[in-house]
Amino acid sequence: MKLKDKVVLITGGTSGIGLEAAKLFKAEGAHVVVVGTNLARLDNAAHELGRGALTVRADLRNPQDIDAAIAQAVARHGRIDIVYANAGAATVTPFDAVSDAQIDAEFALNFKGLFFTVQKAAPYLGAGSAIVVTTSFLNEVGAPGLSILSATKAAVRSLVRSLAAELAPRGIRVNAVSPGPIATPFHGKLGLSDEQLSQSAAALQERVPLKRLGNASEVAKAALFLASDDASYVTGAELVVDGGLTQI
Ligand SMILES: NC(=O)c1ccc[n+]([C@@H]2O[C@H](COP(=O)([O-])OP(=O)(O)OC[C@H]3O[C@@H](n4cnc5c(N)ncnc54)[C@H](OP(=O)(O)O)[C@@H]3O)[C@@H](O)[C@H]2O)c1
Repeated sequence: MKLKDKVVLITGGTSGIGLEAAKLFKAEGAHVVVVGTNLARLDNAAHELGRGALTVRADLRNPQDIDAAIAQAVARHGRIDIVYANAGAATVTPFDAVSDAQIDAEFALNFKGLFFTVQKAAPYLGAGSAIVVTTSFLNEVGAPGLSILSATKAAVRSLVRSLAAELAPRGIRVNAVSPGPIATPFHGKLGLSDEQLSQSAAALQERVPLKRLGNASEVAKAALFLASDDASYVTGAELVVDGGLTQI
């Protein structure tokens, strides 16, 4: 078991990539604490993860919710060993229609929520701990209507290098997993019609050298590698899991 008795906090652990990671990490011996906002998805995650998993409702756009989520994890387990800061969301908007409010909302979750999750969990992390964050293939390629999501993810990529430098003296590693197009509920929340969604999935699939969308479990396995001692000499890095989309 690669994560035996490790305490893992997973934001966005109620759906898609985060839920697959929670299942995999638990199967590898971890005590998982998953965070989301939607009660039905939190209930479903509790059911799928089974005994021992803690589900916490917290809106990461609110720093007090982050404090409360971390307090619950620490109250249950006394410490945190691994943070997987993975929650994220966006809507597709042409750049001439992007509003001040949309920029604030997407940065509040994808950047500030992630930043404060790491900052507030850090006091509970010891030497040998690992932080993994989720970036995106949109760090490397432009896509119409996704300027703000892409900017938030590029900011997080940069943050990984800074935090890795700041936390290295404490023996804490910080890395990113960069998913390509992955079949998860994420796409259904972008504000596109069903027809637009299937057209964009078909177009992306065609662009990916491996000619398919990825699965959440394929991203979860990369996160497991970075979270575990298998990656003990890896920090500041971004592991790309995109079927070659940004690499070939
Ligand atoms: N799927 C892709 O193609 C793809 C590609 C590149 C990068 N990514 C990144 O991968 C990460 C996971 O995405 P996914 O595909 O697994 O999407 P998903 O299935 O929609 O999962 C998103 C997760 O984030 C949580 N979340 C959303 N808003 C939140 C908030 N305000 N506070 C706390 N939690 C919140 C959701 O919980 P609730 O629903 O309960 O709020 C859910 O658990 C995201 O950062 C995304 O940007 C995805």
